[in-house]
Amino acid sequence: MCGIVGYVGPKEAQPILIDCLKRLEYRGYDSAGIAIGGDEINVYKTEGEIAVLEAGMPQMPGVVGIAHTRWATQGRPTTENAHPFQGCEKGVAVVHNGIISNFMELRESLAGDGHNFSSETDTEVFAHLVEAELKEDSDLLETVRIALKRVEGTYAFAVVAPGRPEVVAARNESPLVIGVGNGENFLASDVTALLKYTNRIIYVQDGETVRITKDSVTIMDADGAEVKRAPERIAWSLEDAEKGGYPHFMLKEIFEQPAAIHDSFLGRIDAVEGDEPFLDGGSFSSVKIVACGTSYNAGLVGKYIIEELARVPVTVQISSEYRYSAAARENPLVVLITQSGETLDTIAAAREATKRGNRTLAIVNVTGSAITREVDHVIYTRAGPEIGVAATKTFVTQLVALYLLAIELGTMGRTLTAQAKRSIVGQLRNLPRSVQDVLNQAGTIEAMAQKYSGARDMFFIGRNLQYPIAMEGALKTKEISYIHGEGYPAGELKHGPLALLSKDTPVVAIVTNDRTYEKMIANISEVSARGSPVIAIADANDTEIIKYADDVIFLRETPSLFSPVPVIVALQLWAYHLAKARGCPIDKPRNIAKTVTVE
Ligand code: M6R
Repeated sequence: MCGIVGYVGPKEAQPILIDCLKRLEYRGYDSAGIAIGGDEINVYKTEGEIAVLEAGMPQMPGVVGIAHTRWATQGRPTTENAHPFQGCEKGVAVVHNGIISNFMELRESLAGDGHNFSSETDTEVFAHLVEAELKEDSDLLETVRIALKRVEGTYAFAVVAPGRPEVVAARNESPLVIGVGNGENFLASDVTALLKYTNRIIYVQDGETVRITKDSVTIMDADGAEVKRAPERIAWSLEDAEKGGYPHFMLKEIFEQPAAIHDSFLGRIDAVEGDEPFLDGGSFSSVKIVACGTSYNAGLVGKYIIEELARVPVTVQISSEYRYSAAARENPLVVLITQSGETLDTIAAAREATKRGNRTLAIVNVTGSAITREVDHVIYTRAGPEIGVAATKTFVTQLVALYLLAIELGTMGRTLTAQAKRSIVGQLRNLPRSVQDVLNQAGTIEAMAQKYSGARDMFFIGRNLQYPIAMEGALKTKEISYIHGEGYPAGELKHGPLALLSKDTPVVAIVTNDRTYEKMIANISEVSARGSPVIAIADANDTEIIKYADDVIFLRETPSLFSPVPVIVALQLWAYHLAKARGCPIDKPRNIAKTVTVE
């Protein structure tokens, strides 16, 4: 995954492009580059983060330009492989997000025509393709369309050419938006890059090629017909996309969770009460949840919630595995969970589900993202922009969406009485308060995390609904603190992993007050017997737990169906403070990108 931006207007393009690009750094940060247009195109690019680019680049005058921040997929993260690429010196320049799958074939053919290549990347071939087609009197948008006919794969491209006050771009399965300003226009991979300059956004669709000049926007569909699409006004503010005084986006996003949860169910309680249901009738025999990473863990919690409230059988599958599994003889509602809505594995799964004739519903955070066009129904999680690579507020709002869906399914299937529903809705409304209580304990959690931050390995255990939360705690920990974290159902330790426990392996145990409590106590006793320190997450009124644990994070008691929410917030803070104590780059962990648009 990479981030691209483009600008045409009356102002100097260089500072605007760098400013926008910095907001896309979560999409990749191993190299970066910029191209500024004029009679000739000047390019500057370098290995490393955008700060390195900014520190080294010369002043590049010009009012047209494109820029790129890269997360290497094809070719190593070096200066040579950084974007933009040019067909020839000072000529056409191209930035790209995606993968050109037939690039070897194109490269051989272009090399045969005398083109020389300076990088290992797939993108460079596109610069040469455009260069080869572009004549002095030809139209750049048409030229890009002709060049695209030879390209197979996924892309968001942006192109500038000498002597042309325009940026041309194209999209196929990689995000691309146009920002409409006053006498200036923008392009970007993501709305958040542009919020400082405009909130009027046009979402470019797959197959479309677009041109921005300083005062016009042209969109062509795959057949070359002009498309008229008015900009949408985006409600997210610039402040939503900035750190607002927090040292990291992740911490800001953790602290935004009470508001995010509130926003995610605001007005929706009526929906689940029948006024505006997510699903408009139709029948299905089961639910299949398909997702990756943190969204998959949300799906695992969703299984327990839906089975409990709606008594519908639920299976959960990793997106990249789903499409290769045989279609069982059933007619499931396929629920795809993805905060970005751009994860290629999950989009491919949505297409496969449609091919199998199943009804599809996406739980997604980003308005207008690719998956929303692939499915029959959408539930937006309304968490606001999430910039930190580690998913936090999008996870808890995915859980809220799953509670709401379960309530609707329970109502449809008549497994929930009106009274039970009222009580569940009341508990849902209390969630922001329970989360705020956890946030109030951030200092205690920080001190505890510091104590264990030297560990190399760490286990996370829980049962029932808390088992996927243990998995999510482990994923957060490994992703940002680089401590090897393993999430396990507590009952499974004795079937193998106990062999790994020692005094150097802290075990974080979720021991909230539910029907698994006694069993959890037995499990942590097994752990202590191996000398492992136990950090328990327990209810505030549990006076016994201290006998079994070395340290305890006490949380306000929450009904067991909802306690995954406060518990995961405690574990997010735990992972954050482990990472901080270890000096890790929290918002941009190594080798990981926020949106994964490769399979
Ligand atoms: O955008 P998605 O929800 O589809 O992303 C799926 C995973 O890549 C994502 O959840 C990843 O695991 C997070 N970085 C975890 O914090």
